[in-house]
Amino acid sequence: MNSSDFIHTFVPGTSTRTLLLLHGTGGTENDLIPLGRSLDPAASLLSPRGKVLENGMPRFFRRLAEGVFDEEDLVRRTHELAEFVESAVARYRFDPERLVAVGYSNGANIAGGLLLLRPETLSGAALLRPMVPLVPPTMPNLSGKSVLIAAGRQDPIVSAEEAGTLATLLQGAGAAVTTSFEDAGHGLTQQTVETTRRWLSNQPTG
Ligand code: MLT
Repeated sequence: MNSSDFIHTFVPGTSTRTLLLLHGTGGTENDLIPLGRSLDPAASLLSPRGKVLENGMPRFFRRLAEGVFDEEDLVRRTHELAEFVESAVARYRFDPERLVAVGYSNGANIAGGLLLLRPETLSGAALLRPMVPLVPPTMPNLSGKSVLIAAGRQDPIVSAEEAGTLATLLQGAGAAVTTSFEDAGHGLTQQTVETTRRWLSNQPTG
């Protein structure tokens, strides 16, 4: 397996949109397939498994403690994931201009990494319970990209303030950011799913 290979699932769809599904800590490539299908019955689904193991639990990059990231690893893994996406575009022949990430928790954080370091990879992203993954030395131009930040007011891992800081950061780079705060913790709720579905239905499908 070369460095841009990931264990992954690809489910072809009937529209030009593809969802890049990025699981949370301890997830696998199969976890978010039902969510992706329920968010958009017509989209293709590309779902890689994070390559870093923390006590046997897959993640997309290393952390030193909860919420404290190994930034060097995050940068490296973000580029690896961007290269995987590029190779998947060639292999599965989906439209890279219609690729929207749906990331939960650790998956939302690497999706944030893609937006900040490899913005050409995504046309938009639904970040479910995200943190600020890093602040790059040079901010990207995110104009034309749409981002949903779905935060929980009682999230013990991500404060409302941090979710707000991420919104400000991405907005400052030109992204069209929709922020949703719900009365919820770190876990996804039916309301998160509904909010994401509504947001996605307002995005172009081509
Ligand atoms: C992370 O490590 O990305 C965040 O702490 C979220 C998590 O995976 O628990």
